[in-house]
Amino acid sequence: MLSMGRGPKLGVVGAGAVGTAVAYNAQIRGLAREIALFDINRSKVRAEVLDMAHGSQFTASRVIGGDDVEVLAGCDVVVVTAGAAQKPGETRLDLVNKNVAIMRSVLPQVIEQAPDAVIVLVTNPCDVLTAVAVEEFGVPSARLFSSGCVLDSSRLRWLVAEIARVSPTSVHAMVVGEHGDSEFPLWSSSRVGHTPLTEWTERGTRLFTPEILADMTQGVVRAAYTVIEGKGATNYAVGLAAGRIVQAVLRDEQTVLPVSRVLRAQELDPSLESLDGIALSLPTIVGAGGAERVVSPPMVEDERARLLRSGEALREVFETVRR
Ligand code: 2OP
Repeated sequence: MLSMGRGPKLGVVGAGAVGTAVAYNAQIRGLAREIALFDINRSKVRAEVLDMAHGSQFTASRVIGGDDVEVLAGCDVVVVTAGAAQKPGETRLDLVNKNVAIMRSVLPQVIEQAPDAVIVLVTNPCDVLTAVAVEEFGVPSARLFSSGCVLDSSRLRWLVAEIARVSPTSVHAMVVGEHGDSEFPLWSSSRVGHTPLTEWTERGTRLFTPEILADMTQGVVRAAYTVIEGKGATNYAVGLAAGRIVQAVLRDEQTVLPVSRVLRAQELDPSLESLDGIALSLPTIVGAGGAERVVSPPMVEDERARLLRSGEALREVFETVRR
């Protein structure tokens, strides 16, 4: 199907639970004029495209797609969700060999079709896949990054908001590090409105005790496991998180989001230079150029140590799959 060529085009690779949630979210929010879904499973992708296209009267986006990668031609942004997903009990890092192989086959095709696109990897383990892809495919790290801890930070903000009884948009808190088991929230700089989280009170009582903070950290780290246990996959919230990133790029928002980008020592606080060459989530300015600039956040000593440990865990896995 020919592209309409008016307004931005979003590509989504993978018509599974996550890819379709990303595409559907973009469709109902009108994030792109055209949304192209690509999958090698012809009958599945055709059915998903039809199902979304049948709702076109009620949306501002045109949905196309199929099993020919040319549907991605000229995309401004491509979200990649293809690959094996976690099964109950599996960690994200357990998926590395299968999904590195899939990235090595799919990404060169995507880059050929959309050489100037900003590419957002959602497939897990997203941090390791990002580091491999940037090293192997010659795309600048600002234009090939992953959704990282944008979803985890939304999970965190929801948990805090439920306790503080405020809107999640009034919670300023971020999860950083691996999108996986070694991630953690930056509690020292977390706030509700302008109030530091640990000073937030209700009828004179501080709500965010060390025990509550530890429970919430676990709640975020275990969130995907809990959902996968119950329904076999996570998809709606990751669709929203990916949509948030796509919006920041297509509208050149310069929004700070905890995406996961390959880090370079020279752009980091000197105490973080051992993270050079790996990808993990830190506050990053996202705009038309992609993940444009990483901003080293203020951290207490324990947070800095955890971030470096998270980086070490990722480097270990990265080294096992590097060519
Ligand atoms: C999630 O966090 C599984 O990475 C996916 O929902």
